[in-house]
Amino acid sequence: MKKIHYSELGLVNTKEMFSRAMTGKYAVPAYNFNNMEQLQAIITGCIRSNSPVILQVSGSARNYIGAGFLPHLAAAARSMVEEARSAIPVALHLDHGNSFELAKSCIEAGFSSVMIDASHHSFEENAKLSREVVEYAHDNDVTVEAELGVLAGIEDEVVAEKSSYTRPEEVEKFLEMTGVDSLAISIGTSHGAHKFKLKPGEEPPPLKFDILEEIERRVPGFPIVLHGASSVMAKHIEQINRFGGKMENTAGIPEEQLRRAAALAVCKVNIDSDGRLAMTAAIRQIFAEKPSEFDPRKYLGPARDELTEMIIHKNTQVLGSAGRY
Ligand code: G3H
Ligand code: 13P
Ligand code: ZN
Repeated sequence: MKKIHYSELGLVNTKEMFSRAMTGKYAVPAYNFNNMEQLQAIITGCIRSNSPVILQVSGSARNYIGAGFLPHLAAAARSMVEEARSAIPVALHLDHGNSFELAKSCIEAGFSSVMIDASHHSFEENAKLSREVVEYAHDNDVTVEAELGVLAGIEDEVVAEKSSYTRPEEVEKFLEMTGVDSLAISIGTSHGAHKFKLKPGEEPPPLKFDILEEIERRVPGFPIVLHGASSVMAKHIEQINRFGGKMENTAGIPEEQLRRAAALAVCKVNIDSDGRLAMTAAIRQIFAEKPSEFDPRKYLGPARDELTEMIIHKNTQVLGSAGRY
């Protein structure tokens, strides 16, 4: 595959995005996508709300789309921004990269940012692999996210049954050893659409803000990343179940907790499940109400609209990234 630098695609790395987010006390949204409709919804939602955006793909999403096809999709996303005469910055990020080779391959294909997720290895191995990726990435002006602590749930091919919170006392040494540009931490979020099962009237447990604050005290101004930050919006779960779906009683991270984290050192918030749920809810409703419909545009189009609205909502009401560009 021909080597492409991300600047040729009109993309930027996350450096300036994060320093502005830190000063402005908001978080940049990182939305996962797997197909054209999701990508269009994310870009349209971010253009309409004037929000910076990180487009992110996991290794399996990249395989699904096709490694050679992906840079063209990113370039098409950038064209949408230009056509709208918008000034929002767009980054293309590898989510949960699990090897040096994958990170390198993405950098050579036009990614502007990569995550190396070796958090399930020992501290030393995590630091060693993260450092290796940083050296290659920084030679190409690409920013790197690593992770300390483990989130419960599925992280691409990595499945963690139990979470272990990030230990603030390890953070400074890890940053010194690796030179990473941002750090994902574990403070009570988890991946997927089944984060908490609540009894009527029960609230999800609060995030460990004491850990976040202690990390911020130790490394002031350093960009922190929150994975597993979907809220599992009740309206989408209800819509899915009303129109033939079967999703059990489930809840995610309350929006006000994300707002609070975004005003602290959290500069990047990862959202995947909420987007999947929004599209599924819209598609289920159409299939239930119009069982003879078979034109993909008639169900993928409304699904794209639902996702666009959700993106605007997150940027405006939750992350505070709206209106910044
Ligand atoms: O954190 C993981 C993301 O939600 C990506 O999920 O590996 O199914 O694309 P995926
Ligand atoms: P959710 O499953 O909560 O959307 O988390 C997504 C994520 O962390 C992607 O890396
Ligand atoms: Zn994640």
